[in-house]
Amino acid sequence: MARLAFPRRWWRDAVGYQIYVRSFADSDGDGIGDLGGVRQHLDHLGWIGVDALWLTPFYPSPGHDHGYDISDHCAVDAALGTLGDFDELVARAHDLRLRVLVDIVPNHTSNEHRWFQAALADSGDPRRDYYIWRDPAPDGGPPNNWVSNFGGPAWTLDPVSGQYYLHLFLPEQPDLNWRNPAVRAAFEEILRFWLARGVDGFRIDVAHMLLKDRELRDNPVAARVVREPGTVDDWNRFEHRHDLDQTGTPSLYRPWRALADEAHALLLGEVYLLDAARTARYVRHDDGLHLTFWFGPLVASWNASALRASLETIAQEGRGRVAWTAGNHDGSRPATRFGGGALGQRRALVLFTLLAGLPGMPFLYQGDEIGLQDAELSPQDAQDPIAVRAGEHAAGRDVARAPIPWRSGPGSGFTTASRAWLPLGDAPAGGTVEEQRADDGSWLWRYRELLHARRSLPELEDGAPQWIEQPADLLAYRRGPVLVAANLGEQPREPELPPGRWQVAFSSSRATGGPLDALEHDSAVVMVDRASIP
Ligand code: GLC
Repeated sequence: MARLAFPRRWWRDAVGYQIYVRSFADSDGDGIGDLGGVRQHLDHLGWIGVDALWLTPFYPSPGHDHGYDISDHCAVDAALGTLGDFDELVARAHDLRLRVLVDIVPNHTSNEHRWFQAALADSGDPRRDYYIWRDPAPDGGPPNNWVSNFGGPAWTLDPVSGQYYLHLFLPEQPDLNWRNPAVRAAFEEILRFWLARGVDGFRIDVAHMLLKDRELRDNPVAARVVREPGTVDDWNRFEHRHDLDQTGTPSLYRPWRALADEAHALLLGEVYLLDAARTARYVRHDDGLHLTFWFGPLVASWNASALRASLETIAQEGRGRVAWTAGNHDGSRPATRFGGGALGQRRALVLFTLLAGLPGMPFLYQGDEIGLQDAELSPQDAQDPIAVRAGEHAAGRDVARAPIPWRSGPGSGFTTASRAWLPLGDAPAGGTVEEQRADDGSWLWRYRELLHARRSLPELEDGAPQWIEQPADLLAYRRGPVLVAANLGEQPREPELPPGRWQVAFSSSRATGGPLDALEHDSAVVMVDRASIP
């Protein structure tokens, strides 16, 4: 597969777009989004102005965690297409100068993966040691107090061998043993396979979780329980000292980095730690990951100083190696989190504007560009294992996974089937993609304008942004000749601008161009100092 002629570190100026494949577009009428559907909509992504797309897992999977339980890393799930479809998608994307990132899930496999099947069948098989097995505790119970992200113990007994295996997610997702060199070698092969097919990088699932404490010590009970989105109470009861983010984890990626650098491919980690210094360890060295996602904005409240605190530390620690996101397939959408309705949509664009100006790579999650809100689903529609297994509907992630409303009418342009895998929902406030494309006052056009304005900015350095003190409710930072300011308050306010000839390059709430008098409530601007540009 032909590669694009890439400049080195192409992601420095790029904008990413996350595609939750099952919910993006269905090309074969079975009610499930697929690779063919992605290919049909690539023009749209180019039109918005994104540079790279990240495809959530499309590999063969029994589907207990909708693709994050992989039974074959080097193939395509029959429900989502074929390897031929994948190749066509990459070729078409590259024609449009769009890069393609695939999701790599190294922490666990499906229990139906041939490695785990071999491990179960014979405890003397070398693949037994691909996973983490322990004898029961003296009382016959699990070897330690670890719990699964999805609730319940992190250990399941294999009645045949009498040993427990570890799974930090579902029992159908056994954790791999990253202390075993054979596992490391197997993943290098997987990376080579996809690089040879022309992919431009990898999003690495729970990149901070691979190594576990050698002695498997008990986790301390949390001093303060903080409920994080997409997690259940069981998980939040503990301080995760021994089951994730161990000292040696970042250096596991050294051989991956060598492979990626050779192909100018990107390694982007899902490092869900909410601690800037610990997160930055994964990108600090030139043999680590290139970028890490930062999830602070997913837990931030609508408050200028809290938001600044969340962005400032990681921007400093991460030194341009941060991927910014306001939402993803694991939690509530920003338009809903920040108040719902038109206000929530307005605020979601303010947040994305703030993220888009920071050093690093901003990512849009499918549907956020049309201001989609969380889907309203009844408990009997629940598909997400968190909701189904733990009986905690409130924690379910389905709300952000409803199919994209491409146009009005039956199937919403998503599918020709009479039912989609998750209900299609009512017409979205603000209109379908088709309606918004026809209306240059729509959310879609605003996001597009922002991305186009971002492209036309002067080249900026990766160094930490300089924050400029502002009156209450306002927030502003500067990167040389570019300044981003936001008003999170309810009243219009004038921002404090440093000396210069500041002109509006993008406004979330009004026409662009010209100087700025005041920032409307819940609005943001990107400004350029014409005086400092030759
Ligand atoms: C990541 C994914 C999530 C998945 C989990 C286990 O957090 O984003 O969807 O359930 O990993 O693979």
